Amino acid sequence: MIRKAIYPGTFDPVTFGHLDIIKKAKDLFDEIIVTVAVNPTKHPLFTLEERLDLLKKSLHDYENVYVDSFNGLVVDFAREVGAVSIIRGLRAVSDFEYEFQMALMNRKLASEITTVFLIPHEKYTYLNSTIVRNLASLQSDVSDFVPPAVQSAIREKFSK
Ligand code: COA
Repeated sequence: MIRKAIYPGTFDPVTFGHLDIIKKAKDLFDEIIVTVAVNPTKHPLFTLEERLDLLKKSLHDYENVYVDSFNGLVVDFAREVGAVSIIRGLRAVSDFEYEFQMALMNRKLASEITTVFLIPHEKYTYLNSTIVRNLASLQSDVSDFVPPAVQSAIREKFSK
């Protein structure tokens, strides 16, 4: 049996912190589906198609990792693809309350699916996509935080 996990998020844009979580997750499961949330509560800088494209470009070397998108409940998508786990990253204590609440709600909705928390390298503790967008909007170099494909895409966004 292939053990699949999904890694849901907004990925606006994908950062080295996300890639670090994916690297760890792909060694624990046979297949990882990185799934981009349409997420109507957020107003992303990158369109869904752009976020999918940047993930695909950033993950082309990863054999057992696939990219997809979903609209609706995370657990519905997990069931649809036959995943046994939902991967989430925990960067700091500040992430805990939100993540704990989401994991409990997902367990209530689908008790057969287990949330697995992974801790990224401490050098990514302070990193999130908002910081990357802010730095890029001020023409600051973001090469330490995002893969090359994202670097050029975000530079282009803010040069318009
Ligand atoms: N490294 C760097 N940054 C990271 C990170 C990591 N390892 N993990 C998370 N982040 C950052 C993201 O960049 C993002 O930053 P931003 O807010 O500045 O843009 C932030 O942490 C939160 O990101 P994300 O993991 O994408 O969570 P989210 O809250 O945007 O979306 C979903 C999480 C997709 C699961 C959720 O919102 C969703 O859409 N759920 C569907 C509805 C549902 O199922 N509800 C029931 C369950 S409660």
